[in-house]
Amino acid sequence: MAKLDYPSWVKLSRHAEKARQFSIRQLFSDDASRATEFTIEAAGLYLDYSKNLLDRHSLQLFSDLSVEANLKGAIEKMFRGATVNLTEQRAALHTLVRASSMDTDESLPLAPGALSQKRQDIAASKRRMKRISDAIRAETWLGFSGQPIRHIVHLGIGGSYLGPHMVDEALTAFENQDITCHYIANVDGQHITHLLAQLDVGETLVIIASKSFTTLETMTNAKTARKWLLTNMGEGELSKHLVAITANTAAAVQFGIAEDNLLPIWDWIGGRYSLWSAVSLPVAIRYGFDLYERLLRGASAMDQHFLNADAPHNMPVMLAWISIFYQHFFGAQSHAVLPYDHFLRLLPDHLQQLDMESNGKSVRVDGNLAEYPTGAISWGGEGTNGQHAFHQLLHQGTRFVGIDFILPLRPHHNLTEHHDRLVASCLSQSQALMLGRAENEISPSDPALGNLHNLHKIMPGNRPSNTIVLDQVTPESLGALIALYEHKIYCQAVIWKINPFDQWGVELGKELGDAIYSSIQTDGRSRDASTETIIKRYQQAKSK
Ligand code: F6P
Repeated sequence: MAKLDYPSWVKLSRHAEKARQFSIRQLFSDDASRATEFTIEAAGLYLDYSKNLLDRHSLQLFSDLSVEANLKGAIEKMFRGATVNLTEQRAALHTLVRASSMDTDESLPLAPGALSQKRQDIAASKRRMKRISDAIRAETWLGFSGQPIRHIVHLGIGGSYLGPHMVDEALTAFENQDITCHYIANVDGQHITHLLAQLDVGETLVIIASKSFTTLETMTNAKTARKWLLTNMGEGELSKHLVAITANTAAAVQFGIAEDNLLPIWDWIGGRYSLWSAVSLPVAIRYGFDLYERLLRGASAMDQHFLNADAPHNMPVMLAWISIFYQHFFGAQSHAVLPYDHFLRLLPDHLQQLDMESNGKSVRVDGNLAEYPTGAISWGGEGTNGQHAFHQLLHQGTRFVGIDFILPLRPHHNLTEHHDRLVASCLSQSQALMLGRAENEISPSDPALGNLHNLHKIMPGNRPSNTIVLDQVTPESLGALIALYEHKIYCQAVIWKINPFDQWGVELGKELGDAIYSSIQTDGRSRDASTETIIKRYQQAKSK
């Protein structure tokens, strides 16, 4: 077992004792410039972190901590393509995809020449992605019956699903082709049965997105989809309806994917970062390849900020500091992301995988067990819906929750009253959390309530939050926003001394799943009595 042994950790822990007594209201009264100075603007995003239990001394201690953790060195290492994913002996180069263009001669500020082969691979993959998406959009890619493609069925799970689905949804307001993208992740046959029954096979393209091309859910769905295609067309026509994105091209070819329909990804892009790669093919098909490139450019702008801005002015670093401070010294176990934008409603789901699969670790890179919290429970939901669901707990519950409000200023519609209400709602929530309402601010109690007095109406307040403001949801601002969280998560991992790029914790469940699947087909035996009893019940149910 190991503790965090940074010299500034002790100072930070002492400072936290004071910070727990801070009044955010008071911090504003004491510092007239707090509302403007406790902010960071970068890559089209504006972070207001002034409504936090922090003062200038906190920021100094955070800066010291970052120096001691050599955060800057770790950031440069990742961008340079060093082996930062130690347990899998891989680089993590999602930033390279955003820094590369299809023109491989373009000078590349963020990646050295040693990465030139990777840059060429990225360029080749992008060219193929563009060729396929352009052809479908131009209706020169036709289905077996001569019809243009109107439906995309994207099969993938985890990062091969959450990212592209979220981006596709987030950009709904942008001009798009009259093509509907359907995303299927779950192995639950209800989804694929229900969907395929509604589609005209002649105008459907199935995309299999799986880095490994072995993932149970995706491969089970892929087999069902392939069968569906083949009941309507010959093998020779499959290439008009089946495309794959994978790092395991041999397995994809064996599955029956035409060589020209294969889009490569690589082991140096983690699954939860794969939306930057050809995994976003449905986005390029629906909105055009240029829009996909705009998304990358937005992320790249955040990358440059992350790489170059000094710590207290570095947005991802600041979010990481605040989150670590609350997790270690305020007992925060969870972090909520609350986008006040209907089409960003899938962002919390994407961030949940990004955060929890990255930082849900207990073994450190030095082989010791972490004797401290790592990886918050990441959750959230769209505003204002959450206000009528879980905000009660945020305002009056007993738990300390880290909160990010995300607020686009300009909507993609002209219903002014709606948007004014939406903006007011978002700001009212962070204000209510911070200001609260004391007993003397409440109207006299109802005598019928007896000795309950007005306690239930008191709003404790002094509850912190960040607000991330976007001018508007655009491909660029969305790219920057996603990259912001990726980098925040990386900074936390560096300070916690864990590897955010592997996910060994999901393996045992996969192995046991295979064993239980075999048991269901045979003798129903299992490794524990509880599981075995349920397997037997299932076998009986199947035989009815
Ligand atoms: O099982 C976890 C995981 O490996 C994720 O990390 C990944 O995003 C997902 O499964 C899908 O993996 P693949 O793209 O290889 O099908």
